[in-house]
Amino acid sequence: MTERLCTWDPHNRGECGMPTDAYINLYKRWGEGEIGAIILGNIPVHRDHLEAPGNPVIDKNNTWDAVAAFSLAVAGAKAHGMLCIGQLTHPGRQSPDIVCQQPVSASETKTPDGIMGLNFKPARALTEDEIMDVIDRWAFAAEVLYKAGADGAQLHAAHGYLLSQFLSPLVNKRTDKWGGSFENRSRLIFEIIKAIRTRVPDDKFIISIKINSQDFIDGGFSSEECAVMVEKLEAAKVDLIELSGGTYESLTLAFEHQKESTRRREGFFVEFADKIRPHITKSILCVTGGFRNAEPMADAILQNTCGIIGLARPLCAEPDLPAKMLSGKSHGANVNVLDSPLQTPAAILQIHAIAESRPIPDLSKKDVADDVTAQITGKKKPYHPASAEYPPM
Ligand SMILES: Cc1cc2nc3c(=O)[nH]c(=O)nc-3n(C[C@H](O)[C@H](O)[C@H](O)COP(=O)(O)O)c2cc1C
Repeated sequence: MTERLCTWDPHNRGECGMPTDAYINLYKRWGEGEIGAIILGNIPVHRDHLEAPGNPVIDKNNTWDAVAAFSLAVAGAKAHGMLCIGQLTHPGRQSPDIVCQQPVSASETKTPDGIMGLNFKPARALTEDEIMDVIDRWAFAAEVLYKAGADGAQLHAAHGYLLSQFLSPLVNKRTDKWGGSFENRSRLIFEIIKAIRTRVPDDKFIISIKINSQDFIDGGFSSEECAVMVEKLEAAKVDLIELSGGTYESLTLAFEHQKESTRRREGFFVEFADKIRPHITKSILCVTGGFRNAEPMADAILQNTCGIIGLARPLCAEPDLPAKMLSGKSHGANVNVLDSPLQTPAAILQIHAIAESRPIPDLSKKDVADDVTAQITGKKKPYHPASAEYPPM
């Protein structure tokens, strides 16, 4: 999950994205929670193209020592035997105007204004040279993670960011080898995977991808294409495939239950995972979104729907939830009483509380949820301004 805890100076991009004590402390706390594999929240590979103020950044043009800076967070996450993977991203057209005046994408396009209170400048199409630069940036950042002690790198190819924009026939209107056919639209992802393997020639370094099971937009990346994509990713020796869904334009559809059958099984994308699972023999499948209780999580594993259960919002409320569940002290996450769209910005407030060793707002309590709602909706000054102003993905 995006943390928004690193340095941010709009007038000096070279000094942005440095891990702070709070960022390092957050991963130390999660490292104590028996989470299994901890994925560092999205790390942009270009300092001019952020997802939000306060993002960590690994940019090949920065002069500070990113290996040393990130190694502290990685060490904290791994201190009790967990794996640590860094999620690398480029937001493309989904970089809001508070951080980016000249966004880029696969083609000329624009993210509609007003989504989650954010506005966006029109994006121009990347040139072929710039696409090669993007590939190089991903490989550079993966190497930094490797040298910092991380167990792997995850490509963020979900939720409508740059790699997801390339995959989408709606956004990617290119007529060169990076657009058109499915093979061309997915080329950037496979070139990045190849470049990372060349730069980090260690088979133990995990390559992971987070990908949409579908965009939930007519004409966007479909579940049929995702099924083909997953087989291609396995063939490219991707170790861990995390399934999610949606873009900024369809988030509410993706992050809520669409069917009664999946509500019972909790995981939003379990039915899709069931369909593709038989075709996947080597890559590990992770399903993220919706899981809250031990029983449906165990069922998903025992029924071979996936090999890993991904958790996000529950870990903001209870950073040691897996430890409590594994020891039998808890059978599931505390129930969050906030409406779904408010849960994400509220989770940021909780992340900041964990990072700064303050009490975590307990969103299972109505009075606390009301207070947090007042902070998010601007009726009350937020404890940390970045927490509420920039809803995350
Ligand atoms: C505060 C917050 C920040 C998030 N940031 C990211 C991110 O940086 N990268 C990403 O892939 N997903 C991000 N997500 C999405 C989650 O990883 C996850 O896919 C989604 O919340 C559904 O899982 P859940 O139901 O367990 O919360 C974020 C979610 C939240 C709540």
